[in-house]
Amino acid sequence: MATDTIYKASTTAPVNIAVVKYWGKRDPKLNLPTNSSLSVTLSQADLRTLTTATCSPTYQGEDSLILNGEPSDITGARTQACLRELRARRAALEAENPSLPKLSTMPLRIVSENNFPTAAGLASSAAGFAALVRAIANLYELPSSPTELSLIARQGSGSACRSLFGGYVAWRGGEQADGLDSKAVEVAPASHWPDMRALILVVSAAKKGVSSTSGMQQTVATSDLFQGRIATVVPAHMDKMEAAVRDRDFTAFAEVTMKDSNSFHACCMDTYPPIYYMNDVSRAAVRAVEAINAAAGKTVAAYTFDAGPNAVVYYLEENSGPVVGTFYSLLQGTNGWKDSAKSYDSAAVKLDEATESLLKGGVSRIIQTAVGEGPIKTDQHLA
Ligand code: DP6
Repeated sequence: MATDTIYKASTTAPVNIAVVKYWGKRDPKLNLPTNSSLSVTLSQADLRTLTTATCSPTYQGEDSLILNGEPSDITGARTQACLRELRARRAALEAENPSLPKLSTMPLRIVSENNFPTAAGLASSAAGFAALVRAIANLYELPSSPTELSLIARQGSGSACRSLFGGYVAWRGGEQADGLDSKAVEVAPASHWPDMRALILVVSAAKKGVSSTSGMQQTVATSDLFQGRIATVVPAHMDKMEAAVRDRDFTAFAEVTMKDSNSFHACCMDTYPPIYYMNDVSRAAVRAVEAINAAAGKTVAAYTFDAGPNAVVYYLEENSGPVVGTFYSLLQGTNGWKDSAKSYDSAAVKLDEATESLLKGGVSRIIQTAVGEGPIKTDQHLA
């Protein structure tokens, strides 16, 4: 083989939005959580990271990363942990089989792009680290399963470990001090419950809030309410959510989703000093979901919020009319209007004036998406 060979592999990876939230670390160094969590992987047609990893004996210097066209720092402990672990696994393969090219000794060049605006404040670190780990694992031809890779991605960003799978995914928090039991597993593939949909209401924040990494550490250190959350609330939510997914029971899924989001944000407010991720527009989105459910006479929509003001509303395809229709009607004529082939009938849903005007003024964009697949290997290389 020529010495100027460039070895290459590319993958896409999805975003996931938790319905039972990860919030709190029991070991910040290994990035081990205080509790298990469960998420829905979202379709990569709408939101995904595409990452190409290359290495070559001709490359000089350090490993590098270009993210959305800009050089990005990878000297941070979390990225370094991922690169170190992936290299060690490759080195072990090379030691076993001396005929393999010594990729583990070559500098890595990584190029990564999101198909959604970073400014939208959507959790991009989950898709980013999942794509980084998956792309390098492909480049190194590691025989590792998604669960094995989730142990590595977790060290980049906790929520990233769940983006190694499609569908409905649990991150088992684990108990071991070495973290070897803290990994993601598939609860059900997307095909098990394919009609799950999600609307992301992008809400602009006046200023950048507290990062999740720092926010959760403050919560662990100061919130008394949080102790109850990890001891009893989350374990019960995990059991109920797994059963809801297994039985495709939207009512149960929705109730746990909303209660768990509320519990997480209550713990944020119980943090000292308090952390407020939800704002007036977020709370208007909660009221709109309540109005939609009241008009339907049953639970057809569920809200959830991460470490920022954006709302994610889960619903089933069959209820697109009232759910999508209500939110789309608010945005008609504004920049954020996302057109759709279908028309949605939301005539029965009545929002009060304050709710309507907050949403009209505060939601800048709506992303209509669905449950989707895990990382996909591609030949569409970025470098
Ligand atoms: C509110 O995964 O971003 O989105 O492990 O410190 O990188 P680090 O945190 P991160 O936290 C995500 C928190 C959350 C809930 C969730 O996704 O489960």
